[in-house]
Amino acid sequence: MQITPERLGSAAFRADQGACAAYVLGGMVKGISSVRLVRTAAKVGYLAFFGAGGMKPEAVREAVAELSADPGPIAPWGVNFLHNPLLPAQEDALVDVLLANGVRRIEASAFVSITPALVRYRLCGLGFDSQGRPVPRQRILAKVSHPELGRRFMAPPPPELVAGLLAAGRLTAEEAHAAEKLPLADDVCAEADSGGHTDRRPSFALIPAFLRLREETAQAYPDLRQVRIGAAGGIGAPEAVAAAFVLGADFVLTGSINQCTPEAGTSDAVKDMLATAQPQDFDMAPAGDLFEIGAKVQVLKRGTLFAARANRLFELYRAYPALEDIPMTVRAELEARVFGRGLDAVWQETAEYYRQAAPWELDKITPKKRMAMIFRWYFIHSQRLAQQGDTQQRVNFQIHSGPAMAACNSWLSGTPWADWRLRHVDVLAGRLLDGAAEVLTRRYAGFAAD
Ligand SMILES: Cc1cc2nc3c(=O)[nH]c(=O)nc-3n(C[C@H](O)[C@H](O)[C@H](O)COP(=O)(O)O)c2cc1C
Repeated sequence: MQITPERLGSAAFRADQGACAAYVLGGMVKGISSVRLVRTAAKVGYLAFFGAGGMKPEAVREAVAELSADPGPIAPWGVNFLHNPLLPAQEDALVDVLLANGVRRIEASAFVSITPALVRYRLCGLGFDSQGRPVPRQRILAKVSHPELGRRFMAPPPPELVAGLLAAGRLTAEEAHAAEKLPLADDVCAEADSGGHTDRRPSFALIPAFLRLREETAQAYPDLRQVRIGAAGGIGAPEAVAAAFVLGADFVLTGSINQCTPEAGTSDAVKDMLATAQPQDFDMAPAGDLFEIGAKVQVLKRGTLFAARANRLFELYRAYPALEDIPMTVRAELEARVFGRGLDAVWQETAEYYRQAAPWELDKITPKKRMAMIFRWYFIHSQRLAQQGDTQQRVNFQIHSGPAMAACNSWLSGTPWADWRLRHVDVLAGRLLDGAAEVLTRRYAGFAAD
């Protein structure tokens, strides 16, 4: 039996998303998933998400305007939508931008609970088909690693949030009434051990669990349309794509490998480092945005000291009630090696940012919180150094990435695509899907012959 790449995964996914394949390019923070990256992929028909995380609404609006002009509103693209537990108003501001500018798809991620902003995006402007069933105008692809959250995205939007939005005049009665007949998301992607934020679950365990969850949800809500289940995390070679589809995934989603392409919005220095990464070259570090709660990100270890330095900051944060309690010698070392400037100067800059963005955060500040705010500066700084390619500061580069990158390097070694300059995102997608179809054809032929 010959398996062809265009038949892999869910036909409903391809049809609903207007995509040529059951393949998604996940968003990467601060425009690493750049306009150019999204455009290149979407023009060929691969669903791609712009990396809006960490960007101001004005910058997102500009990116959306560029994408709306080319490849245009019909092409399969959307915007990444990160949960913002610290500043929930920013979620609302982003929804305003997305709705006002006709963005019809988001990739929702890092959610620890369902928020009103998410529900508003889902329900606003919905229509009805000829049989009176609600048809959402906006699609949500939710990326989660915790089954409990997966369950919430497969169920209708929480009634109490819908009621709140109705009472606040943010939804019409018709939209609110239709909510119980829709799942919150169309697609739920089970994210296993990945680059960036991850709790490192193995996909062999995660995907079957999500498939069962979908069955349970179907029993609890028999009239609801079923969501599609995706697989993300660790996908960097054709064998991994094939395995995800055999496990039962409706679509696959990649991240790490797309950062090492000409289209990614990061520096050549970072791409050079990634293109030679091996499986053992990754490490876990605290996540800057969720520093206080101890969330983790997977980063490149080889060629940078970021992971070691960031882990040290987290240990100090846990050990001391305030910055002033940290021994002078340690603080001096932090200033010299890690921050590259005095901690007072870091605080001035940080406080100025909060005065502009969230002044109420400064009102309720405690010494411990102030320490966290100062330490978080390093995470923003180290990410910026990497993205700008300041090679004098390579030891502080913060590069989110995971073992999928190493799998990709090993797969492409000895081919012209060993050079990342040839790894265009659409070429990578096409080669991965072709390769997966070949792997499956070969394996099934082997089973049939036995
Ligand atoms: C550099 C980088 C930045 C990322 N930024 C985001 C982000 O802002 N929002 C998000 O939902 N996922 C983000 N991700 C996760 C990817 O979208 C994708 O889910 C993940 O990388 C898939 O796993 P893989 O890295 O093993 O391919 C990021 C990943 C990388 C490598």
